[in-house]
Amino acid sequence: MHLKHLHFPSLPSTNGWAKEHIENLEKNSLTVISAAQQTNGYGRFRHKWHSPSNQNLYLTYVFFLEKRRDDLCNVSQILAISAIETLNSFHFKPKIKWPNDILLNGKKMGGLLCETTRSNDHLAVITGIGLNVNMPEEELKKIDRPATSLFVESGEIEDQEALMDTLNQVFMANLETFLANGFPPFYEKFVDALQHKPGDQVQFHDYQKICQGTFEKINPDGSLSLKLSDGTPLTYYSGELL
Ligand code: BTN
Repeated sequence: MHLKHLHFPSLPSTNGWAKEHIENLEKNSLTVISAAQQTNGYGRFRHKWHSPSNQNLYLTYVFFLEKRRDDLCNVSQILAISAIETLNSFHFKPKIKWPNDILLNGKKMGGLLCETTRSNDHLAVITGIGLNVNMPEEELKKIDRPATSLFVESGEIEDQEALMDTLNQVFMANLETFLANGFPPFYEKFVDALQHKPGDQVQFHDYQKICQGTFEKINPDGSLSLKLSDGTPLTYYSGELL
């Protein structure tokens, strides 16, 4: 697999652009689409993703499969692990909040969104990542939930280009391993990087309601097992820990 990089000064959304132009992307490449700003960036639950110009990374990775596989929901977890490894090499110690938020000192500094679409006889896997790199405090205040950036946590401006290049290389290598061997080679890394540990009391949003329970474990397929306050065991493949 080789990497093809398309950069734009401004897009409504890098994920949106990928979906609109999917027919023109190379089937045998990993394409990364980046933008200096997004005017309509979006996240999970259709939340707005605040995307001011030249401060952060807004990236979308696209690859194609000949047929669907059962473990596609792990792709965003593989990208989250790749972001953790990249940030570790820049001396940051972020954590993953299941399923794939990136937290630094307990606050969100990155988010991921995986979408799929069909392109002729292929399945296109479109995974976006937003990382708050050099966003200052006054921009972070415009986000309606606790958020942070590398700059706010370290007091230093980071080299966005170097971060992006490293993430591209780390993700491409991890994706090749994942496509050949699935999630098992990443399971322990994923569990080690988690913000929550077994026994933690958590609130969980399952798209319909918020429930209260105990974090039990992450299963080998990346799903989350919780125990509700009344003892009922539940396993989730998506949703949000609050
Ligand atoms: C989330 O935490 O809800 C996911 C946020 C994903 C944001 C990224 S930024 C690049 C790509 N383009 C988008 O419009 N969204 C993703």
